[in-house]
Amino acid sequence: MTHDRTMVIQGNASASATNILVSEANTAESVTDIGVPAPFAHPAEVDFARLLDFYRIPWIYEPVSFALTWEDEQVTEMFTPDFYLPDQDLYVELTTMKQSLVTKKNRKVRLLRELYPQINVKLLYRRDYQQLLAQYGYGALEITELHQEQIERILVSPGELQERVITLGAHISADYANHALLVVGVLKGVTYFLADLTRAITRPLAIDYLAVTGYSATGGGERTPGAVRILKDLDHPVEGQHILLVEDVVNTGLTLAYLRKHLEAKRPASLRVVTLLDKADRRLVNTPLDYIGFPCPNEFVIGYGLDYREQYRNLPFLCVLKPAVYTGLTSPAITADTIVEQ
Ligand code: IMP
Ligand code: MG
Repeated sequence: MTHDRTMVIQGNASASATNILVSEANTAESVTDIGVPAPFAHPAEVDFARLLDFYRIPWIYEPVSFALTWEDEQVTEMFTPDFYLPDQDLYVELTTMKQSLVTKKNRKVRLLRELYPQINVKLLYRRDYQQLLAQYGYGALEITELHQEQIERILVSPGELQERVITLGAHISADYANHALLVVGVLKGVTYFLADLTRAITRPLAIDYLAVTGYSATGGGERTPGAVRILKDLDHPVEGQHILLVEDVVNTGLTLAYLRKHLEAKRPASLRVVTLLDKADRRLVNTPLDYIGFPCPNEFVIGYGLDYREQYRNLPFLCVLKPAVYTGLTSPAITADTIVEQ
C-alpha cells in the first residue's frame, strides 16, 4: 500500500503561509459555535497553531485524509491528521482526550504508520500537550514555595550531574584542541550547567549570553503578539569565532532552530551545540546536537537551572515535576475535555 491511496478531501485551510491563524481569527464570522476560530475544531489546535506561528513554522491544517480501511475498493475508514508542517515533512495529531479514551486514536495512528511507512507522524497526547504548555508558563498555581510532594522522582542526582558534566568537558576540550571557544549560553536555564561545564573545559574561552522571548500564550483567548525574537544579543563579535551554544533542554527544537539561524547569520568559524537534556521524542523541528548530557523522558523536568514558572531552578538535582502541579491548567485547550474528537 502506498501514498497514492491518500485521499485529499480538504483543501480549504491549506494556505501554507504562517500567521494564517491571526488573520482567520480576527474575523468575527469565522468563529465556530464552540468559540474556536475557523478552521479549527478544537481549542488545543488553536493554541498549537499559535505556538507554531510564534516560531515562524509554516503549517497546514488538516491538509489530507489517509484511507485506512477498504471494502471492495470502497474506503471505509479514513484518518485526517490535524497539522502538516511542510518544512519538517511532519504530520502532527493532537489528542487532548483523557488517556483512557485514546485507544481508538492509537489504533488509527498505528494503521497509518503501517500503511504509509514513508510518512512522519507525531501524536501528542494530553499529557505531552500539558507539558508543552507548562514549558510556556501555563498553570493554575502561583508557586511561591517548594513542597516536596510536588516532586515525582529524582531523575539525575547531583553526583551523576557532576560526573557527566566533567565527561562532557573532557570531550569538548579534546575536540577543540587547537581552538579557543566562545561559549554562548541561552538564558536562564543554563545557569548552573554552563557554570559547571565551562570549569570542566580546559581550553581558553569567553562566555556570552543570549536571551529569547519565550512563547507565553495565556489561556482564555488572549492573543500573543508577534513572533520569537532576541531579547538580549551577544556582546562579543562572532565572525570567525568557534561558538559552543549551551542549552538546558531541547524539546520541540523550535528555540534551538531559531537560535542556530540567528548565530549562523553572524558567520562564526564553527557552531556546535551542547544540551544538558535531550527530549528527542518530542522533537518537531530537527536540529543537530553535538553533545548531549542526558536523554530525557517525556516529562516536565525541573532543577539544576530548569524552572517551572521561574521556580525550582536552585534544586541541586534534576527531577520530574508532578503533573498535578501543571495540569490544573487554565487554558481552554486543557479543560475542553467534553469536545468530541473525530
Ligand atoms: P523547545 O523550543 O521546545 O525545544 O524548548 C526549549 C526550552 O523550553 C528550553 O530551553 C527550556 O527553557 C524549556 N523547557 C523545555 N522542556 C522543559 C522542561 O521539562 N522543564 C523546564 N523547561 C523546559
Ligand atoms: Mg524555561
